[in-house]
Amino acid sequence: MRTTQTLFVLHLLSLGACGPYYYRPQAGRSGEEYRYHVRGDQALLGHIQYLERSGPRAVRAHTGANVTLPCRLRVLPRDYRLKWVKLGRSPRENIALMADSRRERARGAFAARASLPRADRHDLSLRLRDLRLEDSGSYKCELINGVDDDSVTVELRLDGVVFPYQANKGRYQFTYYQAVQACKEQDAKLATFQQLFEEWQKGLDWCNAGWLEDGTVHYPVAVPREPCGGKNLPPGIRSYGARDKQRDRFDAFCFTSTFKGSVYFRRESAMFDYVGGTSACRRDGATVAKVGQVYSAWRFSGLNHCEPGWLADGSVRYPIVSPRSRCGGSQPGVRSLGFPRLSHRAYGVYCYKPR
Ligand SMILES: *[C@@H]1O[C@H](CO)[C@@H](O)[C@H](O)[C@H]1NC(C)=O
Repeated sequence: MRTTQTLFVLHLLSLGACGPYYYRPQAGRSGEEYRYHVRGDQALLGHIQYLERSGPRAVRAHTGANVTLPCRLRVLPRDYRLKWVKLGRSPRENIALMADSRRERARGAFAARASLPRADRHDLSLRLRDLRLEDSGSYKCELINGVDDDSVTVELRLDGVVFPYQANKGRYQFTYYQAVQACKEQDAKLATFQQLFEEWQKGLDWCNAGWLEDGTVHYPVAVPREPCGGKNLPPGIRSYGARDKQRDRFDAFCFTSTFKGSVYFRRESAMFDYVGGTSACRRDGATVAKVGQVYSAWRFSGLNHCEPGWLADGSVRYPIVSPRSRCGGSQPGVRSLGFPRLSHRAYGVYCYKPR
């Protein structure tokens, strides 16, 4: 059985004119420096720093969990207003919660999920319930106190997995907006550079360029080789930079986090075509698993099964945690047989059952 890697080791040389250039952490830099943002530290000279700077700058959690983003007062102001803002590229400020020393009000997508636990008089931490994929990112705790405004930034990282995604018509079919949609349909969202970087550190190697959330296009190379940007470059994330979101077409790098539920393999002696597989899951009170769900189950629940099965998008895949040569090679991963004819009665099926 071929692996995803060999299936899709297609050359990028056709794009040679515009890249790739090369990204890699500088030697000697620790992963820590990548893990923490240090914005919000530049309090002006002579101003009082109201907020503590010693707390964690990044918090990790998974979707569905509750999390507390820390923010503490060093000095108690007489009165204050507090604003928790989710930072993003949108010019409109995405306010999660506004408060003063007595009242609070959560806003927008955070309306029913954000609150201030106020564990003591110094505590301005933000509690977020039932985390969603789109909650990942940086949050600013902003104290508004007349002239001595102060803020600190905390990053919320979701534990997750990045997977490359191609259309069933083959590689390089997605505009940026189609890539956004394709990831969504697989229970995922376009990955950030940071998320792709972390997956590359875990060994992701993919020789096709894909969209990231910020509209740039990259691909991660673990084993340098001629068709993937050249043998002489060290391993790293190759970049094509920002591309035209309407016109340029690439694959997608999708990010998904853990889910509530389970994914399992199902087969019968006669094997299923796509429709047969769908019905088999339905008889169990389940649905055919999406690609993101299979990746999550592989990464977080150790789903390991050396038999290909249908997935919801019409692709056929199987997840391998303990690699064996007859199960697609020496690396763990979710193997893909691509998109066979839907009438092909040759596979099992992977079903997803919500908890
Ligand atoms: C999150 O908090 C709510 C109530 O605040 C609770 O009902 C729920 O079980 C918590 N979820 C988790 C995953 O702990």
